[in-house]
Amino acid sequence: MGSTVEHRCDVLIIGSGAAGLSLALKLADSFNVIVLSKSNLSEGSTRYAQGGIAAVFDEGDSIESHIADTLDAGAGLCEEAAVRYTATEAKKCLNWLIKFGVPFDQETDEKGNLRFHLTREGGHSHRRILHAADATGKAVQTTLVDAVQQHPNIHLFERYNAIDLIKHDNSSKECLGAYVWNRNCEHVEVIRSRFTALATGGASKVYQYTSNPDVSSGDGIAMAWRAGCSVVNMEFNQFHPTCLFHPEARNFLITEALRGEGAVLCHEDGTPFMKKFDERGDLAPRDIVARAIDFEMKRKGADCMYLDISHKPADFIVKHFPNIYRKCRSLGIDITRQPIPVVPAAHYSCGGVKTDFTAKTDIENLYAVGEVAYTGLHGANRMASNSLLECVVFAHAAAEHIESQKEREHSTVDIPPWDESQVGNSDEEVIIQHNWHELRLFMWDYVGIVRTDKRLERALRRIELLQQEIHDYYANFRVSNNLLELRNLVTVAELIVRCAMMRKESRGLHYNLDYPETLKEAKISLLVGRNQDSK
Ligand code: FAD
Ligand code: SIN
Repeated sequence: MGSTVEHRCDVLIIGSGAAGLSLALKLADSFNVIVLSKSNLSEGSTRYAQGGIAAVFDEGDSIESHIADTLDAGAGLCEEAAVRYTATEAKKCLNWLIKFGVPFDQETDEKGNLRFHLTREGGHSHRRILHAADATGKAVQTTLVDAVQQHPNIHLFERYNAIDLIKHDNSSKECLGAYVWNRNCEHVEVIRSRFTALATGGASKVYQYTSNPDVSSGDGIAMAWRAGCSVVNMEFNQFHPTCLFHPEARNFLITEALRGEGAVLCHEDGTPFMKKFDERGDLAPRDIVARAIDFEMKRKGADCMYLDISHKPADFIVKHFPNIYRKCRSLGIDITRQPIPVVPAAHYSCGGVKTDFTAKTDIENLYAVGEVAYTGLHGANRMASNSLLECVVFAHAAAEHIESQKEREHSTVDIPPWDESQVGNSDEEVIIQHNWHELRLFMWDYVGIVRTDKRLERALRRIELLQQEIHDYYANFRVSNNLLELRNLVTVAELIVRCAMMRKESRGLHYNLDYPETLKEAKISLLVGRNQDSK
């Protein structure tokens, strides 16, 4: 057994999106921080966010209205205190981002003063979304990356996968850090920390079609579950209604802000259909719009539906949506003249690791921030542009709590070195690839926008078989990125299906044909954490 490299820091942050980098910046003046990123520093959902970030900046708007819209979109399952907390903190957190230099779009008001341009998206009853054209995430990510790169207390570990959280033993409720796989030299190393934060993003890659980048494989949720944390509401995976339908457009989103500015969903012949489903029409919350598109596609046997903004002036479209215009143009679609073919795709994990208002999990010293976490904000359906907001608001909350625990010492417990003596190199990568495809396909078919009990049972049986195979594989072969992600995705799939099976109703994003009604009493789906063995 060789020796394992060990690093030490005050705070280990696993993930370098809006959540992880905001937390790092909040803590770095007082703590020594390591930020882990399993790809390059900028890769993650944050970088691809288009629409923007919700916060009340307009005088005609109010925090109460932001709260009411969020509760309404969440279909009775939001925790009101979490919604209130987030909406109230929003402006302060947005101003913090603005101070770092995020270039949100501005306009001149009637009196000639500069103000932020606010756009609108589904579920919002006011214009309240700050944005940087149609590439808000890129503006946020670039600004935060620039800032962390300049901070002497922040150490950036790129191409490092966290494998598992470290505890003294299985029954312990204290996190000591993480085993990480250094992809640069293909070795497992140990990072020992006084505090650890999961900021690993969501799990939408568990579905065949997704708007998310490859890193969204639910690693943080799976690691937390293996370590004994509880998870909540995993059945509520959000499907974004409008991803570009084109063979060469992998994962490309068409922002909801297009509908906020007047785009209309229609059939190939131009007939609009959203008013049939909801009086808010094209600006109904996402669960309703995604289901309506799915319904119309199935009814017509169509491959896609269409989103038309061509009735707006061409210069308006190009100014507000330059990236979408360019991307579509490169594929032969001129959005100033013709409708855009769109389909729904898995977009956002509303459930996740159970946390409180300080982002603390069930395990001591362990925090979860951003899409990985369940805070109670989104309920059964996240309202557009509340996610980046949640990342920043709860990063601030976690930072405050960690500051308040400043005196905590490093644990003196020995950490067992990673044991690779019994494993070999896999010569059967094809099995991993096959399992990957199989998992994502049956999750799409059986656990997608419309579910039934039978489909869920089928999915669970397959998941159990895959788990056995992956467990054997994991025990016998050296880790690889594909294997680590597959192991996590199959865990996440199990959690999604188990939560879906617990819910004997249809609500928000969870629609089960066997229980089409919504029950009077809204209850979360809680899977209580248990301790499991690591390698
Ligand atoms: P991410 O930004 O996804 O970052 C995750 C990080 O964790 C990455 O650095 C990754 O490398 C790292 N990581 C993961 N696993 C490991 C591991 N095992 N070891 C080490 N590192 C790991 N929300 C809005 O509010 N407004 C929008 O306009 C909007 N538009 C969107 C558009 C698209 C196309 C997508 C995909 C999402 C959009 N969302 C939007 C949702 C929002 O972008 C995400 O919820 C948010 O960015 C999540 O941020 P995060 O920091 O939690 O995770
Ligand atoms: C979009 O721009 O449509 C995505 C917004 C979000 O997911 O919040």
